[in-house]
Amino acid sequence: MAYTQPRIVVDPPGPKAQAWIQRDESMLSPSLTRSSQLVGLRAEGVFVEDVDGNIFLDFGSGIAVTGLGHRHPDVIAAVKKQLDQLIFVNSLDYFTVPQVEYAEMLFKVTPGNFRKRVFYCNSGSEAIDTAIKMAKWHTRRAYGIGYINGFHGRTIGAVSFTTTGAPARRGFAPMYPIGHFVPYPYCYRCLFNREYPSCDLYCMNYLTDIMLKKITPADEVAFILVEPIQGAGGYIVPPKEFLPRLQQICRDQGILLILDEVQSGFGRTGKMFASQAFGIEPDIMAVSKALAHGLPAGAAIARAEVMNWEPGAHEGTLNGGPVIMEAAKAVLQVIAKEKLLKKSAEQGAYLKDQLLQLQKRYPLIGDVRGLGLMVGIELIKDSRKTPALKERNKLLDEAFKRGLLLLGAGESSIRLAPPLIITREQIDIGLSIIEDCLKRITSGR
Ligand SMILES: Cc1ncc(COP(=O)(O)O)c(C=O)c1O
Repeated sequence: MAYTQPRIVVDPPGPKAQAWIQRDESMLSPSLTRSSQLVGLRAEGVFVEDVDGNIFLDFGSGIAVTGLGHRHPDVIAAVKKQLDQLIFVNSLDYFTVPQVEYAEMLFKVTPGNFRKRVFYCNSGSEAIDTAIKMAKWHTRRAYGIGYINGFHGRTIGAVSFTTTGAPARRGFAPMYPIGHFVPYPYCYRCLFNREYPSCDLYCMNYLTDIMLKKITPADEVAFILVEPIQGAGGYIVPPKEFLPRLQQICRDQGILLILDEVQSGFGRTGKMFASQAFGIEPDIMAVSKALAHGLPAGAAIARAEVMNWEPGAHEGTLNGGPVIMEAAKAVLQVIAKEKLLKKSAEQGAYLKDQLLQLQKRYPLIGDVRGLGLMVGIELIKDSRKTPALKERNKLLDEAFKRGLLLLGAGESSIRLAPPLIITREQIDIGLSIIEDCLKRITSGR
């Protein structure tokens, strides 16, 4: 069935969804956040249907995963073809064709005109762990530096550099024992109470004058790990000169720059990778999420001279299976064929512009920011920018009841990351639902 718009036939979660949720909750790990009560049954394009027959417009792409829209026919065809041919030989001991073919395609679209190597894995966290291990192995330096409010995943290596909130870290110390943190340029809430651009990125002085001089001597730092746009932290877009400056600091000090493009990659920002939007060429890049259209996949791509570890230093049984690699190849082909980078840039600009209009009518929206279809809004209670956490959660809830899937981020932000194939009409439908919810929330009903 082709979906054309959201349709709520029974208040979600409906009876079938409730029954599944109850069974799920008695068996699955309580560590899962489950911010919404969606029980998905099928999906197509920009729509998801739940077990009760409710149809939702997906403004989150399953957290920036289904960028091509759900179940893209080209990816399905590629996967089916591969399933009929070869599902698995382990890639520790043997070779497969799709891994090589995908590497060749990937190197053409990743930043940097230098020789590269890739390590395939199964998730964003694994890609980050790979990058961290590789940087340590290559430099033989001890320290790693991350950013406050950064999100990099949940494996013990990745979570060591995740600082979006206490629950991710509580109970797990000691983690990676030599990770240190510096402030991200979150200009809407500057830690130093400065204003951009007159601040000249004052926050970066903390890295150069304090961290690298007094805490972690620069010549003992293996890597700096950073998201080009903070994702789970609140869709925070740094000023355009931040990453080029950071890259220069790293190069001057022989520190490897690891860019976490897990969420921002594969067209999300209007470029294939956010690095290209900011004009940088990281030494190591971690990708996942949209890589294989929702099949479990991750990768760390590095300058060839950086990925120079020895056999046995890092491997994984299921890594880069042929079915996943065929899906990943199809993803890159579809992005090119359907001109999704251009669409992401254009529709993203439209979405952001419309949200700025909405902000004028609803002071609850304190900030609107984004690049391409990676757009965030931050909700505030008053002119002192008190985070409107309750109102944010209410908005997510109300939108869900009206058939719009939205995801939260940061303390009181919402991420808008619809599939890159979304049309203006579909954006307008989503926006009118958001406005409806804002009306209800601000009128206190
Ligand atoms: C920027 C970023 N890095 C890493 C991760 C971890 O990826 P995964 O959940 O696949 O382990 C995420 C997941 O949301 C992410 O957004």
